[in-house]
Amino acid sequence: MSNTSDGKFNLGVLTISDTGASGERAVDGSGDAICQIMAQDGYALVERDVVADEVSLISAKLSEWCDGGNVDLILTTGGTGLGPRDVTPEATRAVLDIEAPGVGEAMRMQTLQFTPFAMLSRATAGVRSGCLIVNLPGSEKAVRETLAVAMPALSHGLEMVKGWRTHAIP
Ligand code: MTE
Repeated sequence: MSNTSDGKFNLGVLTISDTGASGERAVDGSGDAICQIMAQDGYALVERDVVADEVSLISAKLSEWCDGGNVDLILTTGGTGLGPRDVTPEATRAVLDIEAPGVGEAMRMQTLQFTPFAMLSRATAGVRSGCLIVNLPGSEKAVRETLAVAMPALSHGLEMVKGWRTHAIP
């Protein structure tokens, strides 16, 4: 699963933003924050991209990275709210083999102490093709708060994902 010789997990960071994808917003502060935080924890960034808030584009990118076999963990940022263009959870669920709803539940519950708006994120998580996908909200502040909650469980989750084939019934 881990594809680097030194045992690091390989990371993909997908920013989901209409303005980011069109070039109207030049700086991807949320994506940059994820990369910086995860690098400190030893994750190796192997994929990074920005896509518009379209189910087909998001699902295609997630499937490509998961099925390519080189990414262990994908962190998405953005598109988890209640707006008409917020479709990240639907696009994620569409490609998952199994869903891990507890990750989103924990992020919402633990970060309500910072803002009641935490309950407005519909972020989810799950596994596809041996790759763990976790949605994070779109703002840099939200990324820092929610990633701090998810981070302590990620490496254990990834170790579980490594053995996920045992779920299959022969
Ligand atoms: N969660 C935390 N921890 N901190 C935040 O500031 N912002 C909320 C929420 N989750 C926030 C948060 C806001 S304002 C929104 S609208 C939703 O995430 C969805 O954001 P998204 O559509 O950019 O993903």
